[in-house]
Amino acid sequence: MKVCLSLCLLSATCWLYLMPTTGKKIFQSGPCMISMNVKEIRARFTAIKETIQARDTVRTISILSYPYSLHKINSTDRCCIIHHLLRFYVDMVFRHCKTEDSQINRKISSIANYFLSIKNTFKQCHEQNACSCGEQAIEKYKQILANYGQMNITSAAMKSLGELDILLDWMEKVY
Ligand SMILES: *[C@@H]1O[C@H](CO)[C@@H](O)[C@H](O)[C@H]1NC(C)=O
Ligand SMILES: *[C@@H]1O[C@H](CO)[C@@H](O)[C@H](O)[C@H]1NC(C)=O
Repeated sequence: MKVCLSLCLLSATCWLYLMPTTGKKIFQSGPCMISMNVKEIRARFTAIKETIQARDTVRTISILSYPYSLHKINSTDRCCIIHHLLRFYVDMVFRHCKTEDSQINRKISSIANYFLSIKNTFKQCHEQNACSCGEQAIEKYKQILANYGQMNITSAAMKSLGELDILLDWMEKVY
C-alpha cells in the first residue's frame, strides 16, 4: 500500500512536470531536443531588470548587441551560440552579480540554476556533435568576450545580466 501510494504520487508529479506549459520552446538540433521555458526565464528576469539595469552606468559599450547583433546568426550556428552563451552566463555573469539585496540575489540564483540545467543538456548535444560551431558563430562569440573584456568583471557581469532581454528576445524570435 505504502509503495503504491508513493508510486502514484511519483507518477502524478511526473505527469504534472511533463504537462505542456505555454512559453516552452522546443529547440532541436540533430538528435537533440531541448525544452526551454523562455517565458519563465523572462518572468524571473523582469522582477530584477530595473534594479540591475540601474546599476549599469557604462553607456558606451554593449555586450550582446554591438557590433554584431544576434539576429543575424545563421540557423546552422544557433545551437552553438546558445550553448556558448549559456556557458558565458553561468561562468562569467551570474557568479559576479552579487548585490546587497538578498532577495535580488535569490532571483539571480534562480535564473542561474535554470541556465545551468539547460546548459548541461546542451553539453550532451555538443558531445554528440549535434551542436557544431561555424566560423561565423566563433567570430560572434569572440566579439562578445571582447566586449565583456573592456570592463572590469563586476561591471561587465552586471551589464551582461541587464542585457539578458536581448538573448531572450532572440530565443523567442528564432524558435
Ligand atoms: C550558413 O551556413 C551554411 C552551412 O554552413 C553556409 O552554406 C551558408 O553560406 C551560411 N550562410 C551565411 C549567411 O553565412
Ligand atoms: C569597475 O568599474 C566601474 C565603472 O567604471 C567602477 O565604478 C567600479 O569601481 C570598478 N570596480 C572595480 C572593482 O574595479
